[in-house]
Amino acid sequence: MNIIKYVAPEIIFGCGALAQVGDSVLRQGARKVFVVSDEGVINSGWVEKALHYLDAVGLEHEVYSNLSSNPKDSEVDEGLQRYREAECDSILAVGGGSPTDIAKAVAILATNGGKIQDYEGVNKVTHPLPPMIVVPSTAGAGSEVTQFAIIVDIKRSLKMTIISKSLVPDIAIIDPQLLTTKSAKLTAATGIDALSHAIESYVSLAANPITEVHALKSIKLITSNLRESYACNTNITAKSKMAMASLQAALSFSNAILGATHAMVHQVDGLLDKHHGESNACVLPHVMEFNLIACPAKFKQIAVALGEEVTGLSTWTAAEASITAVRRLIKDVGLVEGLARVGLEHEVLPTLSRNALNDACLITNPRDADAHDLHQIFIKSM
Ligand SMILES: [Fe+2]
Repeated sequence: MNIIKYVAPEIIFGCGALAQVGDSVLRQGARKVFVVSDEGVINSGWVEKALHYLDAVGLEHEVYSNLSSNPKDSEVDEGLQRYREAECDSILAVGGGSPTDIAKAVAILATNGGKIQDYEGVNKVTHPLPPMIVVPSTAGAGSEVTQFAIIVDIKRSLKMTIISKSLVPDIAIIDPQLLTTKSAKLTAATGIDALSHAIESYVSLAANPITEVHALKSIKLITSNLRESYACNTNITAKSKMAMASLQAALSFSNAILGATHAMVHQVDGLLDKHHGESNACVLPHVMEFNLIACPAKFKQIAVALGEEVTGLSTWTAAEASITAVRRLIKDVGLVEGLARVGLEHEVLPTLSRNALNDACLITNPRDADAHDLHQIFIKSM
């Protein structure tokens, strides 16, 4: 077996965990906290609650929330300026993947300097970051525990993947109550993103016995709870299970990395500004079909985790059942399959295919893929 590395933050999980935010930030030695969020989370009242807990332990704070649905380099620059002007010394993200990735990018530049493009790729961050605490408001992105930050480069119209152990937050505070104020569509999109994280990291070339346990458990939780969570926002049991599913998928992909789905979807997200989970729904089943030949036994295990009956089936037929089950789940939670239906034009596919070759997520895809292969998968995903 190759050498295994596994990193994870301190994790505080459970309904009511948000109340621990003040003490958690305080014991990191913070004095003034840069709070990164977005308007949706603020309107839901969660930021006000978090600020109350900071006030209760005497911490000063500065809120930055002028963000869009995909985190952009211009928002990182504005955030850094605000962080410096307010003389903050620590960062608290309250929100989904976008505020969290902006928080991580601001943290990089605050202590490492330069521009965010300098850190694209793997292990480019060399100086320690300010203390970082993350409270996720969605069950999908998983950025609260990962060593990833994904930032849109506006000029190049693509998402940069930044991977560094320094990006693992100090503390992840996961309170499933925050999921009850999200729309059904966002619940569906983030849930399919989490499923994509679990599946891609399970078949990743960098998967190991620790990440595989997390990935399979996540797939089981998603197949048993995403429909219920999508159907009813007050179903706190389903929300809690989806929060745990997202967490376990993230612990898996942070350490095992991802695959061709994310390498391709990052290019689409840089162009369309659609929710990352929606584009995952379009691409994931086709990448699974492409990857099947590389590791059919693993796809059989995914089918089992998805609740498929595989007794008596050949390994190949059982493996194929995993794709059928994923398609059924995507349809059940109201997401469309087809990148053309979310607004992608055929003319851009050759460029997106070439750009996907440079995405760090492609390195761990279980089947070798060149630009022609990715182009063919893009065509099928339209
Ligand atoms: Fe993702």
